[in-house]
Amino acid sequence: MSAVQLLLVPLALWALQASLCHGACVEVDSDTDAVVNQGFKLGCISCKMRGEVPAEATVEWSFMPKGESEFTKIYSYEDLMSDIPDERFYERLDWNGSKKTKDLQDGSIYILNVTWNDTGTYRCIFNRTLTFTSYEFHTNATKIVNLNVVPRLTRGIASILSEVMMYVTIIGLQVWLVVEMIYCYRKISAQGEEALRESAAEYLAIASESKENCAMVAVTE
Ligand SMILES: *[C@@H]1O[C@H](CO)[C@@H](O)[C@H](O)[C@H]1NC(C)=O
Ligand SMILES: *[C@@H]1O[C@H](CO)[C@@H](O)[C@H](O)[C@H]1NC(C)=O
Ligand SMILES: *[C@@H]1O[C@H](CO)[C@@H](O)[C@H](O)[C@H]1NC(C)=O
Ligand SMILES: *[C@@H]1O[C@H](CO)[C@@H](O)[C@H](O)[C@H]1NC(C)=O
Ligand SMILES: *[C@@H]1O[C@H](CO)[C@@H](O)[C@H](O)[C@H]1NC(C)=O
Repeated sequence: MSAVQLLLVPLALWALQASLCHGACVEVDSDTDAVVNQGFKLGCISCKMRGEVPAEATVEWSFMPKGESEFTKIYSYEDLMSDIPDERFYERLDWNGSKKTKDLQDGSIYILNVTWNDTGTYRCIFNRTLTFTSYEFHTNATKIVNLNVVPRLTRGIASILSEVMMYVTIIGLQVWLVVEMIYCYRKISAQGEEALRESAAEYLAIASESKENCAMVAVTE
């Protein structure tokens, strides 16, 4: 191996490890439609970019009701303990984030019983401290969730339409295949025993072919 190749091996391994580590945490956006009187998970994920560095994080959630212009603090999570300073959310919020660790990457919370008044904007702030050997480094990340409270979950028209189209297509194709088989069978049997015997082997293939192919076979015979 040349010197360049020897250098490339650890580099490739490092890249592989980095991609694997990164793959362990994915920053998925939160859902935004909550059904009234049901539970709802407010998602907030902030991946630690340097997986190997020890870190601690705190999470703080604020809420701005629809029509208002200021955020108020509703939930904080620090040192494995949560605090709900807002009476609108007393006994209604549960931690759904990283468990049994101060090195949080998931700061999601769960609203136990959604009310119409929960409509509005939620803000999640991740405050992370990375501990290097000789110094500490602070980072923060902010995620916004615009929550929409709905009477029940409705599927989008597009999704329903595409499912209907799928069934129409499948059934349509099968009906067409059967019609085609009958058509070919009649045409072939009309040509008498001999022709039928000859084309018996071809029958299955013909059945799945198009009309033109069928006509062509019939003509050549
Ligand atoms: C949720 O709250 C509504 C009224 O605010 C109540 O009628 C309902 O029973 C509650 N549901 C649960 C599961 O707590
Ligand atoms: C989130 O919290 C709720 C209420 O405590 C619980 O029912 C649910 O299983 C939790 N979900 C996850 C993914 O932890
Ligand atoms: C929603 O807000 C209105 C006005 O602030 C209040 O009167 C009502 O009790 C609230 N409803 C719930 C379920 O918290
Ligand atoms: C973030 O954490 C640092 C150190 O723990 C603290 O000084 C700072 O006030 C925190 N910021 C927020 C918004 O919590
Ligand atoms: C987040 O970090 C930036 C610098 O990266 C700092 O200016 C800002 O004050 C921080 N915000 C909070 C809420 O800690």
